[in-house]
Amino acid sequence: MTPTPTRADKFSFGLWTIGYNGTDPFGGPTRPHLDVVEAVTRLSELGAYGLTFHDDDLFAFGSSDAERQKQIDRLKQAMADTGIIVPMVTTNLFSAPVFKDGGFTSNDRAVRRFALRKVMRNLDLAAELGAKTFVMWGGREGAEYDAAKDIGAALERYREAVNLLGDYVTDKGYDIRFAIEPKPNEPRGDILLPTLGHAIAFINTLERPELVGVNPEVGHEQMAGLNFTAGIAQALDAGKLFHIDLNGQRGIKYDQDLVFGHGDLQNAFSLVDLLEHGGPDGGAAYDGPRHFDYKPSRTEDIDGVWSSAAANMRMYLLLKERAVAFRADPEVQEALAAAKVAELSAPTLGAGEGYDDLLADRASYEDFDADAYFGGKGFGFVRLQQLAMEHLLGARG
Ligand code: GCO
Ligand code: MN
Ligand code: MN
Repeated sequence: MTPTPTRADKFSFGLWTIGYNGTDPFGGPTRPHLDVVEAVTRLSELGAYGLTFHDDDLFAFGSSDAERQKQIDRLKQAMADTGIIVPMVTTNLFSAPVFKDGGFTSNDRAVRRFALRKVMRNLDLAAELGAKTFVMWGGREGAEYDAAKDIGAALERYREAVNLLGDYVTDKGYDIRFAIEPKPNEPRGDILLPTLGHAIAFINTLERPELVGVNPEVGHEQMAGLNFTAGIAQALDAGKLFHIDLNGQRGIKYDQDLVFGHGDLQNAFSLVDLLEHGGPDGGAAYDGPRHFDYKPSRTEDIDGVWSSAAANMRMYLLLKERAVAFRADPEVQEALAAAKVAELSAPTLGAGEGYDDLLADRASYEDFDADAYFGGKGFGFVRLQQLAMEHLLGARG
């Protein structure tokens, strides 16, 4: 069976992903500039539904008003011609030299004010294009040297910025929510809000926490050695999964931005299973865009760009197919039951039960046979995982 992406799958790509020209810290570009109209046209043909971008991806930093408007008009025309939408917009607060010490949290107050103006202007554009999510990735918000950055003050300035932007979208009546994208490091030695856990804790200190969620990226959590699927489950539990960046990463190293599934494949499988079947009724746990933030490798020509874009969507759909087969397998259902996976959903205390009742319940303690767990009562988790791997490999039904 060959899964084919459709608009209903809600696949979206950053203009900076397919538009990456191959530049890295060790060498220059390996591909020519990709025009936005070409990007929209090709994505549409491949079955994606959305394009996302940073302001500076669409029109160069420092563009005149006329140059900026020309590019916006060209994008709008391409959207009208293809039906591609812009579900998310984000601001580049990292490429220009002015942002080398950050935007919202630069030690230089004038830079912070400039950054806020750049973001507000981009919010107007996001609203104009109908984007519902505004991502904030603070790659330069951080430091290399402990003495150089007052972290407490930096968090206060971050909070001041997000609160102000919350006022702005509220007063303007924009139907836009913010999604903070955590990353542990790169380009800064250490970045503020390095994991989704840090970001969720920060969001709860804001004036309008309901307006702000997270945009976790597979590779970013894995760069910190964390389990992405488990992190996404916590973001869902907190009601904060506003957007997601899918890609591939192999271990704790620089941000690889590989095709989704080309890194930790088993974590990609459990992620798709969670997104598609982790809801309370066994349905989708997340219905937002499946957004790919990968980079076509520097070794690829333009054909390789489009085949790798298609590979992201195909990997997602293949994993979804495998997850459906996994869930439908009676032996998996039996292994899940044996492993008591559903039993964790039962509250530990009965309805109306308090600690006095628990203390009075001899079966819970005095008569409980804890010794039966020595040499018996194993959970069978490995058998369950083996079944998952066999489904992932296509070795079962
Ligand atoms: C990175 C980030 C970025 C952000 C983008 C959106 O590591 O470079 O993932 O690609 O996702 O800036 O704000
Ligand atoms: Mn990244
Ligand atoms: Mn990202």
